[in-house]
This record gives sequence, C-alpha cells and structure tokens, in this order.
Amino acid sequence: MKIVKTIAEVRAEVKEWRRQGLSVGLVPTMGFLHEGHKSLIERAVSENDRVVVSDFVNPTQFGEGEDLEAYPRDIHRDAELCSEVGANLIFHPEVSEMYAEGACTMVDMKGEMTTGLCGKTRPIHFRGVCTVVSKLFNIVTPDRAYFGQKDAQQLAVIKRMVKDLNFDIEIVGCPIVREADGLAKSSRNTYLSEAERKAALVLSQAVRKGQEMMESGETNLDRITDAMKGLISAEPLARIDYVEAVNAENIQPVHSTEDCEQVLVAMAVYIGKTRLIDNFIS
Ligand code: PAF
Repeated sequence: MKIVKTIAEVRAEVKEWRRQGLSVGLVPTMGFLHEGHKSLIERAVSENDRVVVSDFVNPTQFGEGEDLEAYPRDIHRDAELCSEVGANLIFHPEVSEMYAEGACTMVDMKGEMTTGLCGKTRPIHFRGVCTVVSKLFNIVTPDRAYFGQKDAQQLAVIKRMVKDLNFDIEIVGCPIVREADGLAKSSRNTYLSEAERKAALVLSQAVRKGQEMMESGETNLDRITDAMKGLISAEPLARIDYVEAVNAENIQPVHSTEDCEQVLVAMAVYIGKTRLIDNFIS
C-alpha cells in the first residue's frame, strides 16, 4: 500500500489501474480511522479491484470556533489500518495541495437539505463537504464511493449532489458501527472525559427508545422525538442541539411515519463541549 501526497500521484496510479481495466472504490475520510471507517474500507475492498482512502482534515467544512486544530490526526496508525484491510492507496494531501493559492470556487447546495439539522448550527459545513468531495471525485474518478450512515444528512447531501452534478459514481451508504455499549464510533469520542463518555450513552439510548416506540406501532413522530428529548434531557452533562424526524431522502421535516418512504430520526447533542451525532432510519 502506498501513501501519496499529490494529486498528480493519485492520477498516475488510477490511470495505470484503468489501463488494466480495474474498478476503483474511494473511501473519503478525515483520518484518525476507527472501526466505522474500517467497515467502509472493507466494503470497498470487497466490491472494487482497487481502493483509495483519502485522509484529509478539510478546513473548509469547519466553522469559526469549531475543532479544526484540535481534530485528532495519526497518519501512521491510519496507514496500518488501511494496509491491514487491503486498501491500495492513501491520499494524504497538504491543505495547499487541495486548495491552491487563490482558490475561490465552491460547490454549494441551496435549501433545507443543507440548512436543516446540522446545517442550522454549522451553516458553512455542507458547502465545505460538497466542495472537497467533488474535488476528490474529480481527482480519483472512482466507480463507487463509500460513506457512513452515521452522517445521514451528509450521505443524503452527497447523493443529491451526485445526481445534480451528474457524477458517474455509485454512492454506497454503510451502517453505523457502535461500541459494545452502544455509543456510535466517532473520531470525536476521543475528546470525552470518563464521565462524559458515560453520559454520551444517552444518544444511543435515545435511538433505542425511538426505535422501540416505532416497533410497537407509534406513528406520531413528534411523540417519538419528544420521548427521546426527555430521555436525553435527564442527563446533566447533555445539551440537545436537535432531535428531529425528517424524510431520509430530502431532509424535509415529517410528522408521521406515513409521510414518506424512509424516516430519518437524527440528533446532535453536546456532551460537555463535544458535539456528537447519532440517528436511525426506519
Ligand atoms: O465524513 C467525513 O469524514 C468528511 O465529512 C468527508 C466526507 C471525508 C469530507 O471531508
């Protein structure tokens, strides 16, 4: 497995693979890889002849006062994991390689898909994500790209962007990977103190509560999200950013399970200073 830092090196590798008639999968990441990323890479390895993992903490998707500098980084550990699971190439560029001096073109998406849920408190986030992911798609030109369902809004946004901009790429969404006690795997879990780590379990407990209510026939989504909020609010270290039910495809708010084909019940909750997300789809 190779680690490369330039766009030219990625293009040369992919060109050679294409000459051999091989298919290419891309797993975009911001590094500090965990079991969740591992499951994406494994899936990509099983479905493509060659797999590229991008490992880049993208500054344009972080707002002011967010954790861009603090975001954990460890390329050596990432390389070990990627090589263990059979990835072929890590693209680990510097910021200056991805954003050349004077760069002023961004990919932006209008409307509720990017202004609802996480977009309310992170107004520039999805513009940064759409921009960097478009650039990665143009650099790697994969057949398939793999994203986690934990970032359900991001997955919906990327699917919409691929449709709108006619990228010839299949977007594969992969299930949330959880710790044994239910906490969804996230690079940001490393920010949590011992007490916060315990408190963070309210997210997955709220997910289970919502799922159980739906399974026992509750169709009123406001009642479901209210019950989830009640459970989270009982944890002193937790502060709710949002708990909302939306159409999983277009992120429009919905109030009944009968309002759309797939309901996404998503949440963002601060545990101390750390903002964590979780969700389920039904
Ligand atoms: O999900 C992430 O880690 C990032 O948002 C992504 C898709 C790699 C873009 O920087």
